[in-house]
Amino acid sequence: MPKSLISIQDFTKEEMLHILDVAREFEDNREQNFLTGKVIACLFFEPSTRTRLSFEAAVNRLGARVIGFPDNRNTSQTKGETLEDTIRIVSNYVDMIVMRHPMAGAADIAASVATVPVINAGDGANQHPTQTLLDLYAIRKTQGHLERLNVNLVGDLKYGRAVHSLVDALSFFNPRFMFTSPQELTIPRKYLEMLDIKGIPYCETEHIEDGLSDCDILYMTRVQQERFPDVEEYEKVKDVYRLEASMLDNVKPGMKILHPLPRVNEIATDVDSTPYAYYFQQAGGGMYVRMAIISYLLGYR
Ligand code: CP
Repeated sequence: MPKSLISIQDFTKEEMLHILDVAREFEDNREQNFLTGKVIACLFFEPSTRTRLSFEAAVNRLGARVIGFPDNRNTSQTKGETLEDTIRIVSNYVDMIVMRHPMAGAADIAASVATVPVINAGDGANQHPTQTLLDLYAIRKTQGHLERLNVNLVGDLKYGRAVHSLVDALSFFNPRFMFTSPQELTIPRKYLEMLDIKGIPYCETEHIEDGLSDCDILYMTRVQQERFPDVEEYEKVKDVYRLEASMLDNVKPGMKILHPLPRVNEIATDVDSTPYAYYFQQAGGGMYVRMAIISYLLGYR
């Protein structure tokens, strides 16, 4: 079976660092053509702006070509074709499949029947490993390293797949976590159990003010409306946190605010012009990181 990236746990710490190093090289020289002749499918069964377009840009920058769809409304899934059959068929046409799907576990299913590497571009509330690698890229770039950082994750820690992958990945780098969420959106227990086993310190709070003054990374997240089974439950928590520039008076000078984006109301636009905002640069690094992931999984770097 070809090597795929379904969960961030599919990569060792050394592999993650290798991806970040190669991404840095690509940022210095983004015109690469060593994948000329390759074809990569980007199959998005769920909306995306950054992930799809940065993957497509990455494929083009590497000299390969891209096929695929931005939603499945015009595919034979509307006639009842299964995900497995769709992936079996697309595997015949391409050298790699990048897939986003609303169902947790869908990427794993795809990889089990694919004959080419599969990259999980987000599966439901489960994992978003390529987001995590670009998050690590942003963290290392702004902090100079990944070790022993105070990381405060804020918002929807229950449904936020970017949070889940990031906690897994940072657990290799001796962090100290603060998890800031309302009771309804706390991080799933399995992540806390993993941290307990590894002896990684963490605390949980409902108050965003608690974790602002001593964090190195403030990782804000959107409340994931599309994952709520009940719209009333979403309405109760949708505006639970709103970071404003006036709340940043006592933060560490080198602190950076990250967000996987899109944002809704959780970061006021007056934060954008502070020296702490880094979410737009963070997304910009995604193309280089995805170039590195594609190259690595195809055996080139
Ligand atoms: N961060 C992220 O996955 O953004 P998109 O949904 O726009 O791809």
